[in-house]
Amino acid sequence: MTELSPVTTPEAAAKPHLPDAQTVTAVTHWTDRLFSFRVTRPKSLRFRSGEFVMIGLLGDNGKPLLRAYSIASPAWDEELEFYSIKVPDGPLTSRLQHIKVGDEIILRPKPVGTLVHDALLPGSRLWFLATGTGIAPFASLMREPETYEKYDQVIMMHTCREVAELEYGRQLVESLKDDPLIGELVGDKLKYYPTTTREPFAHMGRITDNLTSGKVFADLGLAPMDPEEDRAMVCGSLAFNHDVKAVLEGFGLREGANSEPLEYVVEKAFVGDGI
Ligand code: FAD
Ligand code: A2P
Repeated sequence: MTELSPVTTPEAAAKPHLPDAQTVTAVTHWTDRLFSFRVTRPKSLRFRSGEFVMIGLLGDNGKPLLRAYSIASPAWDEELEFYSIKVPDGPLTSRLQHIKVGDEIILRPKPVGTLVHDALLPGSRLWFLATGTGIAPFASLMREPETYEKYDQVIMMHTCREVAELEYGRQLVESLKDDPLIGELVGDKLKYYPTTTREPFAHMGRITDNLTSGKVFADLGLAPMDPEEDRAMVCGSLAFNHDVKAVLEGFGLREGANSEPLEYVVEKAFVGDGI
């Protein structure tokens, strides 16, 4: 009997093949600290909009160097999108920021996370509260039909230090109007409330301050939060998550989980220094 040998193209043979490899299909640089990219989606990968996976590159020692990343694309998308920080001396992102179309990344196809519809009790208004790259899971959920099927109103609050850092989210929200798949479903249900804290902009201030002062409710013409009606999903730095939880609890909302759905859920956008 002749032994079967794997069929490879010359290009494939030239590259070391990564385990769980996916191919980069698009890269966009938004600022010198932020970029987004799209990769092929493993056929077998099923996930719920809002979940995260481990992605990475091969390290210098030949072992995978992996980090948690929210999937920024919705569950129905045939590719996967990610929105990333560039940490200058970060083990992964100092290299990941240089990826180009055609390159391969590693993607472990085991999605998990708490920012999912199943972790919230039914309600009529859904608040997405994010700072920085914490908008990534909401970039997925804002494109998820279930979001608009389950809620009458969806409010996306995103806060960054500077205006340029809001641009990925701004363009995404803008694109929803004309989206052939969910544009009609979104209609005027989605209210977008971007703010900056360190550069002049139409609306300014921290999410915590704009909620406690009532400014966001006044600006959008909405009633204050009410645990009977309002649900929230939170994603930002540890300090932000900590402080916004206290604000939500002040409105009477309680933290839920996949195992016990309640009125709000929280996920870290990253693990801070020394934690
Ligand atoms: P690391 O050694 O991992 O980080 C170095 C330092 O950089 C950290 O101590 C922190 O101070 C800072 N830092 C790391 N990530 C961020 C960030 N996103 N924003 C601001 N400062 C940061 N990162 C993303 O860019 N996009 C995502 O969608 C994303 N999703 C995540 C989901 C979860 C559940 C968790 C826990 C983390 C997520 N992260 C995300 C962070 C990510 O896992 C890495 O920390 C990041 O890619 C930097 O990797 P690194 O190896 O270059 O540096
Ligand atoms: P500020 O400029 O007032 O610190 P960072 O880049 O430090 O992660 O911050 C991203 C955004 O989140 C900034 O606009 C920052 O506002 C805001 N922010 C940081 N920490 C908190 C917090 N504990 N509560 C509310 N907003 C916060």
